[in-house]
Amino acid sequence: MARTIYFTTPIYYVNAEPHIGHLYTTALADMLKRYHLLAGDDVWFQTGTDEHGEKIVQVAEKQGITPKQFADGISGKFRDAWDRIDIQYDDFIRTTDARHVKYVQDVLTKVHDAGDIYFDEYTGKYCVGCERYLTDTELVDGKCPDHQTEPREVKESNYFFRMGKYRQQLIDHIEANPDWIRPERFRNEVLSFLKSPLEDLCISRPKTRLEWGIELPFDNRYVTYVWFDALLNYPSGLAETSKGENLFDKYWSSCNHLIAKDILKTHAIYWPTMLMSAGIPLFNQLDVHGYWMVGESKMSKSLGNVIRPLSFDAAFGIENLRYFLFKEMRFGADSSFTYDLFVERYNSDLANGLGNLLARNAGLVAKNFGAIPAAQPLTDAEEALAAKVKEVVAAYRSNFETRQFARSIEDVCALIGETDKYITRMEPWKMAKDESQKDDLARVLRCGLEICRISAVLLSPVMPKKCAEILAYLGETRPLDGSVPIEELAAFGAIAEGIAIDSPPRFFPRIDEAALAKIIEQVEAESQTATDAVRPREIEPIKKEITIDDFAKVQLKVGRVKEAYPVKEAKKLIRLMVDLGEEKPRQIFAGIKSHYPEPEKLIGQNVIVVANLAPRQMKFGLSEGMVLAASGDERLVAVTVPGQAKPGDGVS
Ligand code: MSP
Repeated sequence: MARTIYFTTPIYYVNAEPHIGHLYTTALADMLKRYHLLAGDDVWFQTGTDEHGEKIVQVAEKQGITPKQFADGISGKFRDAWDRIDIQYDDFIRTTDARHVKYVQDVLTKVHDAGDIYFDEYTGKYCVGCERYLTDTELVDGKCPDHQTEPREVKESNYFFRMGKYRQQLIDHIEANPDWIRPERFRNEVLSFLKSPLEDLCISRPKTRLEWGIELPFDNRYVTYVWFDALLNYPSGLAETSKGENLFDKYWSSCNHLIAKDILKTHAIYWPTMLMSAGIPLFNQLDVHGYWMVGESKMSKSLGNVIRPLSFDAAFGIENLRYFLFKEMRFGADSSFTYDLFVERYNSDLANGLGNLLARNAGLVAKNFGAIPAAQPLTDAEEALAAKVKEVVAAYRSNFETRQFARSIEDVCALIGETDKYITRMEPWKMAKDESQKDDLARVLRCGLEICRISAVLLSPVMPKKCAEILAYLGETRPLDGSVPIEELAAFGAIAEGIAIDSPPRFFPRIDEAALAKIIEQVEAESQTATDAVRPREIEPIKKEITIDDFAKVQLKVGRVKEAYPVKEAKKLIRLMVDLGEEKPRQIFAGIKSHYPEPEKLIGQNVIVVANLAPRQMKFGLSEGMVLAASGDERLVAVTVPGQAKPGDGVS
């Protein structure tokens, strides 16, 4: 019987562009969707963006645009990234969507009417990074351990949700449903947190402090706290999809949340108590994965180690990254990404493993038969491989259901390894020289291709496009949509006969380690120059008015360009040495490379420099100022002043 299942990812904050941490959860939902479709289930998958709150106001202000304009830009970037790498989400929700706003207000009314919201005065320590109040026990040396910043002391009157009232009901639910929060260590973490009394939750912000949010339906002087708003995306997007359907009854009871451990508390405590109060049935499953580190460090823009999915895709292929991420991470544990490890795994599993098995066998089939030969009676050696296939397929479903899919990927790898050994033992290249062994040759090569076909079926949720190409090449045309059971698709012996085989495309070319350093540099440079705080080009910024005194804070000076050359590793940067009439010229990195293909032409020109801009440490060195440029749609022109002006002259 087909089951229904609803996968969600967190809705991502729009204060940063997508990186491979966001990619992991999103691709995970995509992989699980594809697995469930293969298993014949009916799946809905929703992702989206979280757009309200102080954090967004702060970054938008820095850009001189409204929070909505800012959110439009970054939300579009998330959506675009997922579209370009073929993430098959069914709906994309934004917390600024009218359908979501209405849903949040309806729930607030319900919870208020039920008597679970009251008004009170509160003093607490607020961390803008987390967008929540932190308790004293959560602080380390007075700072938020995640953001390394001191929370702000806030004292104000606000609305509170009676979260504490639901503590026992929540404990009972967790105890009665041992798999509700997986893996177990996170379930234990939540239960241990619930041993202490549960405080009520402040769910409003006065508009005098923050206007960017959903207005409370019962008091228009306040907006809704961003987490109370954001968590409701999960049902709001179902109750009204972007196409206007109501899929709540169909999918809600099967809701499976996918998150990383950073937002366990909000999902395992705030969220279910909110649902209890609103009279909405609880979600079905909370799956919590660990954190991706880059080498030993946390991924962070300031450490310059974030990796952007699209840059990675252009250099190495996103499906190869998916393979690495899903095989490498034990569900629930942290894992480390390094380029070296990625390349090592790619070369050994995909280039030398599946890719080589396919190339070797297909090459010999092309030369000796021109098409997949007919089945021959099997010997013990093939029977052993067929038995192995059965074992792998039998464990496949349960591994995916319990999120141990890394084991299934390893099983496929082991199967390929054994088949490789079998081929080496059988020496088909010798058989090919002896006409009397033609049937043996057919048997061996067919078996080699069969394992490739089965591997591609089983890995199709992980590397959908690549596996589809391999399956098409091997003449496997049956759909992977559940109409044929996995066991039949992956049955040993099901490979078609007579499919023309010419020499195969190189599905997994080896990554040349000599060329690697250069590619990595490029991916890194591109990833780092991605502007998290981009201004959407099509939008004319609305800047706040400033006074003459504000303007006087900016010190503009004439600078004469002494040296100018492109930074090889960066797509946009030119390195300038600019004389400001000081002891020595200043080094300034300007993002104008594509507009100045011959940067040396700038040498000798007088430009205008923001002289009192705080120096910024970039990957390529310290940037000690900013050169003004006029910007149009696709143009950037450095602002220059005539030769009579001298280096160091003030500009006002
Ligand atoms: N907006 C909230 C979520 C609201 S859901 C109702 C939020 N946004 S976030 O942009 O910070 O995204 C956090 C999520 O991004 C993590 O839970 C995880 O899914 C993903 N990841 C971000 N960085 C990650 C790693 N370094 N490693 C693994 N996943 C990470 O929190």
